[in-house]
Amino acid sequence: MPPPSPPLNMIVAVTDTGGIGMRGAIPWRLKRDVLYFRLVTTHFSEKSGVVREEAAEGAKAKWQGAGAGEGEGEGKEKGDGGGGRTVTNAVIMGRKTWESIPPKWRPLGDRINVVVTSRWESLQHEHAATTTTPSTLLFKPSLTSAMDHLAAVPRVDAVFVIGGAQVYAEALAHPACKRVFLTRVWRTGTGSVPGAVDEKDGRSTEGGLTPETRERASWDCDAFFPTLGSEWKDVPGAVEKVTRGRYSGAEGEEGGVGYKFAVLERV
Ligand SMILES: NC(=O)c1ccc[n+]([C@@H]2O[C@H](COP(=O)([O-])OP(=O)(O)OC[C@H]3O[C@@H](n4cnc5c(N)ncnc54)[C@H](OP(=O)(O)O)[C@@H]3O)[C@@H](O)[C@H]2O)c1
Repeated sequence: MPPPSPPLNMIVAVTDTGGIGMRGAIPWRLKRDVLYFRLVTTHFSEKSGVVREEAAEGAKAKWQGAGAGEGEGEGKEKGDGGGGRTVTNAVIMGRKTWESIPPKWRPLGDRINVVVTSRWESLQHEHAATTTTPSTLLFKPSLTSAMDHLAAVPRVDAVFVIGGAQVYAEALAHPACKRVFLTRVWRTGTGSVPGAVDEKDGRSTEGGLTPETRERASWDCDAFFPTLGSEWKDVPGAVEKVTRGRYSGAEGEEGGVGYKFAVLERV
């Protein structure tokens, strides 16, 4: 009997119109979302439902420094691929999302990285030829095979699908998919966002900051997050709980980008 599938979490930043990317990249820049992404995907414990304690303290310091140049990129925290800890998290992504990560930041540090691609054999072979140490980077032919592999690794704790559109759609259809860490983003018009396109969405006020920012604008996107059905519900207070209350500001504004973190669960 194969081990049961691990629960699947998704993490995504999405506009009000469901946009997540444009021409292979993310059209906005949001350091605090990068820090949140790193904290949650590296340190969230599926067993406790919160980030591991020592991580929350470090995250608080980084969060406070975010405005002063911290968090430019995803980065590698310790560079040990999680090997120094007894448990590690894993991230699963599509080949295009993998290619969108700057080489200096990949594989994402302190997590097992699994890339889904039809060219998995040749990419795995190429990778094996360039590394002599046990690697935390794997190429797999499907989401299911990625999950089967991770289910058989005892030290894997939480598993995250980190994009893009194609893999999110597959994950959402999977019965193991139970939680979405969602960052809602919108343009506030208070900063300059290169390449951004005004596109008023006409939606209502949820998550806005001031009356002025409630009339949200978005970015031009060609990749979209699938629509979540009514069985997906916002969990009140979940962001504070998950981060052990160490993150000040589950919503805010940074460089012309408004954001609000949420955790949704399938009920
Ligand atoms: N806003 C966010 O939070 C966020 C997060 C991540 C990504 N993004 C954005 O999303 C966009 C990329 O999304 P995307 O949908 O174009 O690409 P993607 O999902 O990242 O990658 C698609 C590729 O993954 C492989 N793949 C997916 N499902 C597979 C399966 N069942 N079996 C085998 N291979 C499979 C295929 O690779 P092969 O062609 O090699 O077979 C496919 O071409 C980019 O703009 C990126 O910046 C945004």
